[in-house]
Amino acid sequence: MKSLASFIPRLLRKIIPRLQRKVILEVRRHDPPPLLKPIDGIHFEQVTAENVALVSHFRCQKVVANCRRYLAQGDLGIYAFCGDRVVGHGWVAIPNGLGRKIWGYMPVTRDTTSFMFFHIDPKFRGRKIFQHVLAELVKLTFSKSNVGRILSDVNVYNAPSIAGCERAGFRRICIVPLFLWCGITITLGRIPKSNPNSA
Ligand SMILES: CC(C)(COP(=O)(O)OP(=O)(O)OC[C@H]1O[C@@H](n2cnc3c(N)ncnc32)[C@H](O)[C@@H]1OP(=O)(O)O)[C@@H](O)C(=O)NCCC(=O)NCCS
Repeated sequence: MKSLASFIPRLLRKIIPRLQRKVILEVRRHDPPPLLKPIDGIHFEQVTAENVALVSHFRCQKVVANCRRYLAQGDLGIYAFCGDRVVGHGWVAIPNGLGRKIWGYMPVTRDTTSFMFFHIDPKFRGRKIFQHVLAELVKLTFSKSNVGRILSDVNVYNAPSIAGCERAGFRRICIVPLFLWCGITITLGRIPKSNPNSA
């Protein structure tokens, strides 16, 4: 009964066409790093084969499997820890020469990559952990890849997420409307290409 109750909303979400608007933000390799105060009792680590499964402290097995898959395909992740408990995660796609797209529209090319999957344990929200996860992931991405810019896409209504990106040094570059239907994403706008000459 419970699985039917969760199946129906999931099915409806798939088959009812939805229009969303995404704020696209970017940070460039030579942008000044944000000034963020350390958070008492919270530290950040790169996700590795040894710690990847610890995200099960606050996420379900499906998310653990996704994190394992990202790691196996060479993407980079940061976990936020309170002691030895994982309380937040963030992932970025790393270019693999295949020119893939995240969520069907966010580019991963030689020069540009995109953030993919962020979540902070509800018990730990409002403590600025998200902006630190973003900033750590930006540092890691620029140190481990040759990309010149990183993009983030956030629903226009997700005010904490947009604010967190801006605190972490991202700036808004456009809003892209999307049409979602049956697993298909159609973008009704264009994300500007990277232009290394513009500041
Ligand atoms: C969005 C999310 C990641 C934010 O995590 P968080 O650690 O609580 O965020 P932070 O504490 O870093 O707060 C970010 C900023 O948003 C601000 N903020 C919080 N709620 C807000 C609201 N309702 N309206 C406007 N700003 C808000 C905070 O004040 C903070 O800004 P500040 O540094 O100027 O004080 C978290 O709520 C979450 O996991 N949500 C569910 C999944 C999700 O939305 N993921 C992101 C998809 S892009």
